[in-house]
Amino acid sequence: SKSIIIKEDESLPAATTVKISHCSDYRGKRVKVYGWVHRLRVQGKDFMFIVLRDGTGFLQCVLTGRLCNTYDAITLTLETSVVLYGTVTAVPEGKSAPGGHELIVDYWEVISKAPGGNEAISNKVSSDSDPSLLYNQRHLVIRGETASSVLKLRSYTVKAFRDYFDSIEYMEVTPPTLVQTMVEGGSTLFSLPYYGETAYLTQSSQLYLESCVPALGNVFTISQSYRAEKSHTRRHLAEYSHLEAEAGFINFEDLLNLIEDLVCSVVDSVQKHPIAGPILKQLNPNFVPPSRPFLRMEYKDAITWLNEHGIKKEDGTDFVFGDDIPESPERQMTDAINRPILLNRFPGPIKAFYMPKCKDDPRVTESVDLLMPNVGEIVGGSMRISTLEQKLEAFKTQGLKPEEYHFYLDLGKYGGFPRGGFGLGIERFMAWIADRYTVRDCSLYPRFPGRCTP
Ligand code: 4AD
Repeated sequence: SKSIIIKEDESLPAATTVKISHCSDYRGKRVKVYGWVHRLRVQGKDFMFIVLRDGTGFLQCVLTGRLCNTYDAITLTLETSVVLYGTVTAVPEGKSAPGGHELIVDYWEVISKAPGGNEAISNKVSSDSDPSLLYNQRHLVIRGETASSVLKLRSYTVKAFRDYFDSIEYMEVTPPTLVQTMVEGGSTLFSLPYYGETAYLTQSSQLYLESCVPALGNVFTISQSYRAEKSHTRRHLAEYSHLEAEAGFINFEDLLNLIEDLVCSVVDSVQKHPIAGPILKQLNPNFVPPSRPFLRMEYKDAITWLNEHGIKKEDGTDFVFGDDIPESPERQMTDAINRPILLNRFPGPIKAFYMPKCKDDPRVTESVDLLMPNVGEIVGGSMRISTLEQKLEAFKTQGLKPEEYHFYLDLGKYGGFPRGGFGLGIERFMAWIADRYTVRDCSLYPRFPGRCTP
């Protein structure tokens, strides 16, 4: 068999190079497709089926006769990169294949072989592997159907977020992630040496977004944020993609409506998208888009709800006003209510320094979390303190050094203005719509305690 050599038939029409996603436009035409051997089935001596993957889709390819008798054919392994030449043909009646067609191959070449045996991809990413080993092989795992579907859905979702902000005329900005300021409390700051000084990895771009409003109007960003979380939970990452927006001259009610409209509009455009819609359906067949208006629930009523439903604190006692509601009780409540909740008006002491007190009740702040069934909090937002006096007061309480925040303090000095904004964790949003158990599976290369590779 080593002696069998195949050659491209020069008398055939020239093949056009196409991506698999475009093959439908080439029915009956001769094409050339590059990709990786995703699946392989050999049937007897003269029949071979390859499912080719090129990132844009999957294509069933049929090799017959001499094409499957070459040394390359006999030793072909999964993940080998190849180029296949042939005619895109509708599958016979009663048969199915991705796209409803297959490539009847007339010539092919190996580009680079992948190993078989112990080193074969199937041994590296088998589904019974320990999950921590699978994170080591994440670069191979993402070639799989489920992982790549999640990442594709994520790409369309991020685009939908951008389109939404474009439609309401928000400017996109890219604030620095190497910073000197903390936004969400000192305990989750990563620090690093920076030319003889200490710098931090940003927890949130919020303060920078606030500074952009007088310059650019309403703004948003999709930037990386970092949290030195000690919690090993399924919704915490050390590095995540943070969508944040900031709007000037709005009130708290406007802010709640903005968050609701964003989530509903993005879900709607993802569902209607010709490629993203079917991926969403396949990953989360039972997904029901949330209906408007979202339930608005005050923090104090959540405390009452927990008490009425016998959900206790870790020490077995009842929740009281002022307590932080931890992840587990929050989830139990959200799952029981089973619809999105805009939980709002949290007490000041359990929230960030920049949140203003409510005028009708100074015990609580103009703050909101959006809670989703099965995931919990996906958005955190608030109105912002805006005067210099309020800021200096908050800094004193928090022990923050005003000189490190001079750009932020100047906002109150040079024409303070009412404003509000929020942050949404992209991986948490994805875990919600794609029904993934953990945000780790919604991140390209997740970072969490004990993992910083690959
Ligand atoms: O509630 P957070 O901490 O709010 C802020 O950072 C505000 N400064 C945002 C703003 O108003 N501009 O974080 C916002 C969101 C959370 O709701 C969650 O979705 C996500 O960021 N998030 C995380 N996602 C993954 N891993 C973590 N460790 C996260 N911490 C927060």
